[in-house]
Amino acid sequence: MSLDIHAHKLLILDFGSQYTQLIARRVRECGVYSEIHPWDMPADEIRAFRANGIILSGGPESVNLDDPPRVAHAVFELGVPVLGICYGMQTMAAELGGRVAASAHREFGYAEITPGESTLFGGLSDDEAKPVLKVWMSHGDRVETLPSGFNATASSPNSPLAAMEDPERRFFGVQFHPEVTHTLQGQAILNRFVHDICGCAGDWTPGNIVADAIRTVREQVGDGKVLLGLSGGVDSSVVAALLHEAIGDQLVCVFVDHGLLRHHEGDQVMDTFAEHLGVHVIRVNVAERFFRALEGVSDPEEKRKIIGGMFIEVFDEEAHKLEGIEWLAQGTIYPDVIESAGAKTGKAHVIKSHHNVGGLPETMRMKLVEPLRELFKDEVRKIGLELGLPKTMVFRHPFPGPGLGVRVLGEVKRHYVEKLQLADDIFIEELYKHDLYDKTSQAFAVFLPVRSVGVMGDGRRYDYVIALRAVETIDFMTARWARLPYDFLEHVSLRIINEVDGISRVTYDISGKPPATIEWE
Ligand code: XMP
Repeated sequence: MSLDIHAHKLLILDFGSQYTQLIARRVRECGVYSEIHPWDMPADEIRAFRANGIILSGGPESVNLDDPPRVAHAVFELGVPVLGICYGMQTMAAELGGRVAASAHREFGYAEITPGESTLFGGLSDDEAKPVLKVWMSHGDRVETLPSGFNATASSPNSPLAAMEDPERRFFGVQFHPEVTHTLQGQAILNRFVHDICGCAGDWTPGNIVADAIRTVREQVGDGKVLLGLSGGVDSSVVAALLHEAIGDQLVCVFVDHGLLRHHEGDQVMDTFAEHLGVHVIRVNVAERFFRALEGVSDPEEKRKIIGGMFIEVFDEEAHKLEGIEWLAQGTIYPDVIESAGAKTGKAHVIKSHHNVGGLPETMRMKLVEPLRELFKDEVRKIGLELGLPKTMVFRHPFPGPGLGVRVLGEVKRHYVEKLQLADDIFIEELYKHDLYDKTSQAFAVFLPVRSVGVMGDGRRYDYVIALRAVETIDFMTARWARLPYDFLEHVSLRIINEVDGISRVTYDISGKPPATIEWE
């Protein structure tokens, strides 16, 4: 009998906090599977989920509004532990007979709380001399009167009731956010909740996830043939490695090389998969076709449409050349699943409008295999390493589907792309050399089709401009430009101007997002 890695699980009911996905990730880092569902999940579905514990997330609302969001009362009748975080604590207090009011001092950011007797965090402290917890708060309301059965377990100058517990029913509330790293003991607190209080084992590990995914894929596809569009990005690479491990030669990958990839990227993908791992990869070199289709087109959205449309066309043509394919594999990951569920119910806060290349061609009538559907990006990376993919591939910065097509501003010409590839390669190589690559979330060069005057030796030059972009971000929704050292930037600039023919000037982009986006188009 094989191990069931979903046997123990937590249900996270989402009230719309920006940290909800973080709660789910932290629970999984404790080795326990967790799922996010909207706060109004119906009672029968909650029961059917059979969670070992429930977490109520934070959220932007106030329980004192007319008709505030509240969970089905079944949550408090299942006999499993419940942890309310921030709004989750307030709604729990309000539902169980306590009182919540607007706080005179809204609290955002660092706070120190004094823990008392508590199953959840008793004995933990950030100070050797006295009990104190450094935590991250963000709330306007606070609990004023506890529901019966509850004790206050921590206080802060602004929140006399900063945490509460009902040890009998195993209900817990914290005004602060244990899921963010600013709460120093946050992971220890969540560990206690999922292991000691909910009694979950820690079977959700990269090794077990891989073993489970392999078994599931084998059961799902039997001896059927599977087609995968390989892009060189993390998700499709991990799917390829996983499926290869699971079904070997039944997997066929199609790698569309549209000529808008990074320097030598096409060859690297082939080296890693075809040569190193022995995966069956068909490389289609269609750069010429893409460049022709992009001739004379300078509008960014139109370029995206052409690239996306042609990608699907080429992929479809290749698929039709193959015989007996029943399955199409996709690198869908858990945040995509949550976002598209949110989009359907109109509850999503942020919906990406990017049209990714590699989406399912509508004319293809194949069954889907999506082995990463349950995983967060950091978990995908961990299982990528587990499967033996190189670190440089697994921790590579994201790359947009339309590739360098949106990094050459305006009309895309082959010789612009070639210059951009060389400049970008120098920038990335130097970031690695100076140990700065992993300190930035995304870094790349952009080609500006304007010319500026320069001097080189005794000659005058009138050549193109390269802009360098490097950002730090957690979620790519907002970003800060990376404070790269001046000496480093100078070195990169000199190398680009000396080594890339046709470039006479390099600039560094110091715009944040918002108002600028990360990509220039
Ligand atoms: P922006 O430029 O919107 O980018 O701030 C946010 C993140 O999304 C990536 N990006 C794309 N990814 N197809 C993609 O697959 C696209 O059309 C696309 N446009 C932007 C961008 O690289 C950054 O990581």
